[in-house]
Formats: sequence, C-alpha cells, structure tokens
Amino acid sequence: MTQPTSPAEEPEVRKGLAGVVADVTAISKVNSDTNSLLYRGYPVQDLAATQPFEAVAYLLWHGELPTSQQLADLRTLEREHRELPDDVRAAIDLLPTDAHPMDEVRTAVSVIGASEAAGLSSLEAGGSVEENIARSVRLYAVLPAIVAYGQRRRHGREVVAPRDDLDYAANFLWMTFDAEPDPVVVDAFNRSMILYAEHSFNASTFTARVITSTLSDLHSAVVGAIAALKGPLHGGANEAVMETLTEIGSADKVAAWLDEALGAKRKIMGFGHRVYKHGDSRVPTMKAALETLVEHYDRPDLAELYGTLESEFFARKGIYPNLDYPSGPAYHLMGFDTETFTPLFVASRVTGWTAHIMEQQAANSLIRPLSAYVGPDERSVPR
Ligand code: COA
Repeated sequence: MTQPTSPAEEPEVRKGLAGVVADVTAISKVNSDTNSLLYRGYPVQDLAATQPFEAVAYLLWHGELPTSQQLADLRTLEREHRELPDDVRAAIDLLPTDAHPMDEVRTAVSVIGASEAAGLSSLEAGGSVEENIARSVRLYAVLPAIVAYGQRRRHGREVVAPRDDLDYAANFLWMTFDAEPDPVVVDAFNRSMILYAEHSFNASTFTARVITSTLSDLHSAVVGAIAALKGPLHGGANEAVMETLTEIGSADKVAAWLDEALGAKRKIMGFGHRVYKHGDSRVPTMKAALETLVEHYDRPDLAELYGTLESEFFARKGIYPNLDYPSGPAYHLMGFDTETFTPLFVASRVTGWTAHIMEQQAANSLIRPLSAYVGPDERSVPR
C-alpha cells in the first residue's frame, strides 16, 4: 500500500504490505510481543487441549463455542456431506497421478463451486449469511474425502467410505488409511487441525478477502486461497520441512548440512515468520503432540534430528521454528505422504478462510491498493 508521507507527496512503498493494517477483524488476534494467538478471544493452545476441531470450526464461524446441542447438530450436518461426490472424483481422476495434491484440491473446490449456485454467495447479489455458513460447512465436511482420496489414488488405492461412528478427526484418518485410527494419533491430528485453522491476515486469507471484496463467490475465494497456500513461503513449508529432514538424514549430519545450506544462502524451511519474531505461539502445542507421536511410533532418531536442527539453526541465526516445523514430522509419523501435508492445512484453514470471507462480505470495501510507477515516462508509440 502507498501512503503520501511528505509534502512532496512521495509515496511510501511497503513491500509485501509488511506492517500495513489493512482492515479490522474479530476472528483472531496474533500478538507477536506475547507470542499469543487468540481465536475469538480464546488462546489457541487452550482450544487445542480441550476441544474437538468441529467446535473450533463452529467458534470461527459463529463467534462462540457451541453448546452440546449445537455441536451435535454440526456433527450431524458434517456427516451428511462427508462422501466424495462422483463429479468431484471424476474431475480429480482427470488429473495425472503425479499432479501435486494441492492442484487436486484446488480443482475439486472449483468443481464443487460450479454446482453450488456460486454467484449468489455475495450478500449484494442476494446471498445470505445462513447460506454461506451452510456452504462453508459443506466444504469443510467434504475436504477430508478429497484429501484422503488424493493420497490413496497416488498409491493406486480406492476411495474408503466414511464412517458415521467416527468424529471428524478419526474419520479423516480412517478415510485416508483404511485402518482403525489409534486414539493417540487422533488426538495429535485433532490438535494440528485446530492450530492450523486460523491466523488473521496471512497471505491465503488475505487472498480470499481480496477475491471476496470484488463480490465474487465463496468457492472462488477459497480456490484463490488454496493457490496462495500452495507456495513454500506459506503452506508449502510443512512439506519442505520434511524434505529438509529427509535430505539431512540424521542428527550427526546437521552441522555440516547447515554450514553448506547457509553458505549457499538457502532459506531453512519451517523457521522464521513475518509476524512472530520471538517464537510462534502454536509451536509448543504441536511440538508436544509430535513428542507423543515419537514415543507412540518409537522414533527417537527423528526426535534427535528435529531437536538438533532446531538448536543448531537457532545458535547460528537466532530464528525460531514456526508451526510447520513440528507439524511436518508429525504428519509424516501419522503416515501421510509429504505432498499431502499442505492439503491437510487446507482442510483445516478452510474454516478460517470462510469465516474471513463472511466477515469481508458483512462490511465490504473493494480491496484495491495503489502502486508507485517506476517505468518509462510517457513516450510516443513508434510508427
Ligand atoms: N532460513 C534462513 N534465513 C532466514 C529464514 C529461514 N527460514 N527466515 C528468515 N531468515 C533471514 C533472512 O534471510 C533475512 O536475513 P537478512 O536480513 O540477512 O537478509 C532475515 O532473516 C529476515 O527474513 P525475511 O525473509 O526478510 O523475513 P520475512 O518476514 O519477509 O519472511 C518468512 C518470513 C516466513 C517468509 C521467512 O522466515 C521464510 O522464508 N521462512 C521459511 C519458509 C517458512 O517456513 N514459511 C512458513 C511460514 S509460517
């Protein structure tokens, strides 16, 4: 965004919109000074320790935690929309099996949007808040089937039908792995879904708000958000973390690997954050979940590698890990393919995105910043 800053009207350019407050939001508060993240006022670590993901989705959409009846109603609705629709499956099957799963998820949401009377979701175009909450619930309910099928088809496996006796997190694992989910794994997975759900005006959420501000529809805004999340500086980092840990191999190789990587000016994925400069508020909760999984799967070698990279990198650069650092190895231990990590992020963050889309719709103003022109002065077209 540009702002006149001097009598000469020289615009101040804020690259990457760093430090720019673009709008108000009542959905979440990121406080970098205290390393805290609040969803509708509740500390995210407390929500992760006590709530099912369904309750947090409800909180983001409605502003309050659900009563037991409201939670039961949401769970019923979620179960009704868990199945992978035939047309969505057919569209995914058109893509090559080596397509990135984020491309599958983006395509699947586009297909769903096309059959959801999408143009009507903006309030100005006659949409209603109730309809948009219903659209959001349907999308959140079907995304596990899309993500699970994406992983399964890369292994030549069939769709697994959802199970009504399982809640969201357990059913997601069931549909992916076709095996009875272990409660320890379900708990860690549920926590990760809560931690990824919302994070104020991050790049993908802001993309969704920009698209919404043109009065475009909810599904188009989510498709744009998925595209933004795919990049390795944003959601793609959890995949890159696992690739890094695999590339290093073992704890004894960390120091030499870091010397070379930093010498080549490589960014170490899973470290650093645009907002948090003294540590990411979500990391302690996810790290504790990772430690439980390390014990459950008996993988002290992975814990040693993880800890050594964290401490060696901090000693050299003084930069803290972000949420993607513990979540990458946690998803790996659960059995997810590395390429599935960012789609898992989509399944969670769709709750935050849709809450922001509805907030933008409720007090809309077209998002259209200015630019400072640095090209050639006016000149004549050669004849
Ligand atoms: N590895 C190595 N150096 C890093 C780094 C990382 N992960 N993150 C930041 N730095 C360094 C930069 O090289 C830069 O150093 P310099 O001042 O000597 O040039 C300095 O720290 C500031 O980094 P910058 O990229 O300008 O900060 P930013 O606020 O624009 O970037 C990120 C934030 C997230 C884009 C950045 O930390 C990053 O690329 N991290 C890796 C990707 C990642 O994990 N993304 C997920 C975010 S939740």
